[in-house]
Amino acid sequence: MTHSSLLHHASAAAGRLLPDPAGPGRILRAVDRIERFSAADRLLESVRRAVRAVPLGRARDGLHGRWLGHPVHPLMVQLPLGSWLSAAVLDAVPGQRRAARTLIATGLLAAGPAAVAGWVDWAELHRQQMRVGVVHAAANVTAVALYAGSLTARLRGREALGRALGLAGLGVVGVGGALGGHLAYRQASGANHAEHVPHLVSPGWHPVAALAELPEGRPVRREIDGVAVAVVREDASTVHVLAERCSHLAGPLSEGTVTDGCLRCPWHGSVFRLSDGWNVEGPATAPQPAFDTRVVDGRVEARLRTS
Ligand code: FES
Repeated sequence: MTHSSLLHHASAAAGRLLPDPAGPGRILRAVDRIERFSAADRLLESVRRAVRAVPLGRARDGLHGRWLGHPVHPLMVQLPLGSWLSAAVLDAVPGQRRAARTLIATGLLAAGPAAVAGWVDWAELHRQQMRVGVVHAAANVTAVALYAGSLTARLRGREALGRALGLAGLGVVGVGGALGGHLAYRQASGANHAEHVPHLVSPGWHPVAALAELPEGRPVRREIDGVAVAVVREDASTVHVLAERCSHLAGPLSEGTVTDGCLRCPWHGSVFRLSDGWNVEGPATAPQPAFDTRVVDGRVEARLRTS
């Protein structure tokens, strides 16, 4: 086969997998099919309920990454992934068997906590995200099993089998990682869904509503510069304005409930302080953009708070 025909075959093979201007490639079509696969939804709902029922208390917010301001699961997976990748490199270096074994064991130990954080996030996702997420988890469980087999084989002196299982594990965890990337970037799970607000709302005061038309203790939806906001009149003269789309997954806060100076999202229960938008309870890891308010001639005005 000539050099040019080799190149032609290689680019044709890549073209079957990768997207081209005419539409999505095979990989994307396959993942899109996972998003649409609804046959196991009842089972997923049962798993979701089971994950939510685990009595984690305040640790649940810690596992979501509220303390960090974004999900902690992607950070935690660095340790198993880095350990296993490094083990694969050491497998190619003579005299590094023991170090490779140590790295594989380290990855196995670190995979557990990373998985717990992942499941806690998973239980608060949209249906399509849950479908992809469960395949992502299945790939990672398979990788853990392969690495456990790899470690066992190495400890029994079956080095070649151990290396083969390790390589297989690395390939499978790569698939799991790619699905995790799809979840994070294409399906925007874990992203801050209120991040756009400061880019769209112009500086200065904006009219919101007549004070008299706002009910006390119940959120109302209005718009500022085309951006939806949730307006809450707390008492006769105090009005709070927060961005309306929840930072977690864009739930409608104007349909939420007001309690103890906070607004609870109707979708997954994140709680935001009305006075400044702080996310006092997850799963939201980012606060809600908040507005200063004033009343001029009986009309409420709001200005995006920048600090
Ligand atoms: S959208 Fe999930 S808590 Fe608001």
